[in-house]
Amino acid sequence: MDFKLSEMQQDIANLAKDFATKKLAPTVKERDEKEVFDRSILDEMGSLGLLGIPWEEENGGVGADFLSLAVACEEVAKVDPSIALSFEVHTMLCSWPIWKFGTAEQKQKFLKPLAEGTKLGAFGLTEPNAGTDALNGSTTAVKEGDYYILNGSKVFNTNGGEADVTVVFAATDKSKGAKGMSAFILEKGMEGFTYGKEEIKMGIRASVQRELVFQNVKVPAANLLGKEGEGFKIAMMTLDGGRVGVGAQALGIAEGAYNEAVKYAKERVQFGKPIATKQAIAFMLADMKLKIETARLAVYKAAWKMGQPDVKSYSMDASIAKKYASDIAMEVTTDAVQVFGGYGFTREYPVERYMRDAKITQIYEGTNQVQQMIISGSILR
Ligand code: CAA
Repeated sequence: MDFKLSEMQQDIANLAKDFATKKLAPTVKERDEKEVFDRSILDEMGSLGLLGIPWEEENGGVGADFLSLAVACEEVAKVDPSIALSFEVHTMLCSWPIWKFGTAEQKQKFLKPLAEGTKLGAFGLTEPNAGTDALNGSTTAVKEGDYYILNGSKVFNTNGGEADVTVVFAATDKSKGAKGMSAFILEKGMEGFTYGKEEIKMGIRASVQRELVFQNVKVPAANLLGKEGEGFKIAMMTLDGGRVGVGAQALGIAEGAYNEAVKYAKERVQFGKPIATKQAIAFMLADMKLKIETARLAVYKAAWKMGQPDVKSYSMDASIAKKYASDIAMEVTTDAVQVFGGYGFTREYPVERYMRDAKITQIYEGTNQVQQMIISGSILR
C-alpha cells in the first residue's frame, strides 16, 4: 500500500490548484453573489485538459486515472465548489457513461468533444415525483422506426440549458420495472427539447440547475446508450462514480473552510493573544483536521478502486466516501463559521459560503440516507 500520489496524479493536482488559485479565487465571491454560471471557465478547463483526465488519448483524454480526477475536483472545490460541481457532473455523470457504455461512434461524436472541453455535458434522471425513487419517473421513450420519441421532463439538472450533450433516462417499457428504463444521448437544439424553471438556491449559486422539457423529441436510435432496458443499471453505475466525485468535492469544501479558519485563528487577537492559542479553538481546529484526513482516505480509496480492472463493484466504497465526506464538510464548515464568530456570519468572509455550499453535498447524487441504504444493503446482501 502506498499513500503517496504518483507524479502524474500530483502534476494534475498542481495544475488544478494553480487554475483554481489564479482563475477562480479572484471572482468566486462575485459569481456567488450574482448567481451566475460562467461557461467560459469550463471552456478554459477543457483547454488545460482538466475535462478529459481519465479518458484515453484517442477519446480526447489525457490518459490519467480516477484518483487524478478526484484530486483535481478536490482542488477546484477548495476554492469554488460550484465550478467543482459543473466539472464533476460533466465528467462523472455525462462523460463516464458514454465512455463505459458508448459505441466507438458515440465516443468519437460525444466523448471526444466532452473530454476536450468543446462540448459541455449534463445528466438527466431526477423528476418532480422521482427523486430517491429514481425508477418511478414518467418520462417515456417510444420507438418509431429509426427514432425514439421522448416525452416528459427532468428537474434540478446541473449544467441544464448550457450543456451540449445530456444523458437522459426514460421508460421504454414501464411494465419491466428496472429492466424497462433506457439511456439516451440528447443534443442541445433537438426539436422539442427545451428548458423550464431555473432553481434559486441556498448554495452552489455559481452553477446552474434547470428543468429539461421533452415534447415529442425525435432521438435517433443511434443515440441509445447501451442496450434498450439497461438504463437503470447505467444510471446506478454512473451514480457510483458520481458519488466519488461528490466526496472529492465535499472534501475540498471542508479543506477550503478549514484553511480559512486556521488563518483567521492565528490572526484574530482576543484577550491579548491570537485565538488559536486558546484550547477551545485549537481543539476545534484539531477535530476539523482529523475529519478532513479521515475523509481523504475514504475518498481516495473509492477513487482508486473505481479504476481497478479486477474490482467488480465499488458502490459501497463510493457511498461511504460520499456520505462521510459530505457529513464532515457540513460539520467542518459550521465549525469554521464558529471560529470566525460574528464575522463568520457575514458575507465579508468566505466561510458562510462554504457552509451554504456544503449542505447540498449531503443531498444530491443520492441523499445520505440513500447512501445508508446502499451501505446496509451491501452488508446484509
Ligand atoms: N450497479 C449496478 N446495478 C445496480 C446498482 C449499481 N450500483 N444499483 C442497483 N442496481 C440494479 C440492481 O442490481 C437491480 O437489478 P436486478 O433487478 O437485476 O436485481 C436493479 O438495479 C434495481 O435495484 P434496486 O432494487 O436496488 O432499486 P431501487 O428502485 O430499490 O433503488 C436506490 C435503489 C439506491 C434507492 C436508487 O434508486 C438510488 O440510488 N436513488 C437515488 C437516485 C439519485 O442518486 N439521484 C441523484 C440524481 S443526479 C443529481 O443529484 C443531480 C445533480 O445535478 C448533481
